[in-house]
Amino acid sequence: MSARDNHIKTERDAQSREVSPNCGFSVPDHFEEKNEQRINQREWLKVNSINRSSQVNLVKISHMRYQHEDLLKISTFLRDFGMTVEKKTDTECWYRGYGPDPYVYYARKGPRGYLGGTFEVESYKDLEKAMKIPGVRVASNGIEAMDNAPHGGYIVTILDPEGFPLNLVFGQSAPELRAGPERLEFNDEKEKPRVRKFLRFSPGPAAIHKLGHYGLVVSNFDKQFKFYTENFNLVPSNILQVPTNPGSADRKSVAMFAHIDRGSDLVDHHSIFLTYLPPNGTTPHIHHCSFEVHDYDTQALGHEWLMKKGYELVWGLGRHLIGSQLFDYWWDTSKFMMEHYIDGDVVNDQTPVVVGPAGDAGLAAWGPEVPKTFLD
Ligand SMILES: [Fe+2]
Repeated sequence: MSARDNHIKTERDAQSREVSPNCGFSVPDHFEEKNEQRINQREWLKVNSINRSSQVNLVKISHMRYQHEDLLKISTFLRDFGMTVEKKTDTECWYRGYGPDPYVYYARKGPRGYLGGTFEVESYKDLEKAMKIPGVRVASNGIEAMDNAPHGGYIVTILDPEGFPLNLVFGQSAPELRAGPERLEFNDEKEKPRVRKFLRFSPGPAAIHKLGHYGLVVSNFDKQFKFYTENFNLVPSNILQVPTNPGSADRKSVAMFAHIDRGSDLVDHHSIFLTYLPPNGTTPHIHHCSFEVHDYDTQALGHEWLMKKGYELVWGLGRHLIGSQLFDYWWDTSKFMMEHYIDGDVVNDQTPVVVGPAGDAGLAAWGPEVPKTFLD
């Protein structure tokens, strides 16, 4: 049965009095779904007058940067979250995963603060280009050599229109390959490839592979949207909208999930997202950053580990709809939100931009009820 037939059948079953068993199925990225519009990416770039040749070219998301009052406390948390200390001094610490990035998290001692997400750019010229974005403020001392950081490289920090730092790096040397968890064979009801072998697990943190994405809660959504999509090769995978006024047919965008456009290469469904500040919301802030772990057992064991250590759960485990990830959200010891995820969607330049309605119902396919603290 095709995905479309399956979808129609599910709709039909929903209308009948029979209780249908749950089911999961994958839908091709171009599949038209109810209440959604799909726009060819090239068309979307054209309509929005985006000139790719003038953009700063991002290669991938690399690491997060934060400031914490108590480096010891955050280090204990990040180890329990699955990171490994790569290098530390009295005032700075770099934490790595087992993926290809030199490190996935940087912490500096100081008053609680968000120091920005970090992307690797294609060339040194892209660092220079970033400093020349019209109206941009440069927060670093120009392009700085990261002499103190593991694997070196150069960094520039710019501030987006709402003052959120955005770090761009180039020229880091590649770390040696690191071993990750073993891929486990999974016996379902039909196929049982794990023959005469028994599964065993040891408790512990869910080892982090890499940084996957982060998101900002912003005050002027349209301005921020324009800044990130015009100046960088960030293309929306999903744009979520609400009626301008109750009952109105006019719509305004209130959230977007963007991937890094690397042409036909497959990339994560989103590396950054923006969402508007709710009317009763606080000030603009980082919503969360999210790190990839290996598989469902790893994630669940990591959840248990954090629970046993007495950390504060936000929301999880569950399955997102947009991006499809299995999610697990936690507060760190400075009350910044962090996520473990697995099994995210991948897209490329052939994947249409999806424009659809926003709503809490779209947050998860399953999982505990979304807590209010997640929506703030
Ligand atoms: Fe996330």
